Amino acid sequence: MNSIAIDGPAGAGKSSIAKMLAGKLSYIYVDTGAMFRAMALYLLRCGVNAEDAAAISAHCKEADITIRIKDGAQVVLLNGEDVSPYIRTQEVGEMASRSSVNPDVRAKLLELQRALAARENVVMDGRDIGTVVLPDAPVKIYLTASPEVRAKRRCLQLEESGQTADYDQVLAEIRERDYRDMNRAIAPLKQAEDAILVDSSNMTIPEVLDTFLKIAEDRLGK
Ligand code: DC
Repeated sequence: MNSIAIDGPAGAGKSSIAKMLAGKLSYIYVDTGAMFRAMALYLLRCGVNAEDAAAISAHCKEADITIRIKDGAQVVLLNGEDVSPYIRTQEVGEMASRSSVNPDVRAKLLELQRALAARENVVMDGRDIGTVVLPDAPVKIYLTASPEVRAKRRCLQLEESGQTADYDQVLAEIRERDYRDMNRAIAPLKQAEDAILVDSSNMTIPEVLDTFLKIAEDRLGK
């Protein structure tokens, strides 16, 4: 099986581009952030406090997170329920970032991610795919953009989905999330040594996709 690992901070455009790349190559797109978000949704529903590591460790064992492939993309199921409509809020994103520092949460989702990559050709996006989840992936890309550009994009996304967005607040949350994701003890966000860096701050989506396709073709030898 072939794997393409895409890592980078929140709002860099990983999921949009990864989905298109997977479509072009007929690979399965795996959004690992959605798995962490489904877990976070479960913890929020249980009323768990983000600071309570013992409660997170205990409750994460009750969350059965599975993936169904529909039209080449994943649908995340939480204890059998399709939770896709509920995981894209700021609240869930915040809890996902906080609870993802927990080793039990990470261990549980790591197993699921590796099992998927062993079974299918995948484009997998997240924070630690090239460094920890799939260290042998033949294609690794680290996609980033400036915090300001990412905050603008996130505001647009939120507005498009009917939610309100305050730029300064979104920017502050992005900086905080970057800090937490890059400085946690286990599997922090960082560029793998053999990953290619792409900065999308001044690039259009088609330009980024084109760059990704060239990197993939080059590394996969097509
Ligand atoms: O990519 P996202 O915003 O959907 O991810 C939500 C959070 O989940 C992110 O802030 C950190 C965590 N995450 C992670 O720790 N490892 C991954 N591979 C993917 C996401």
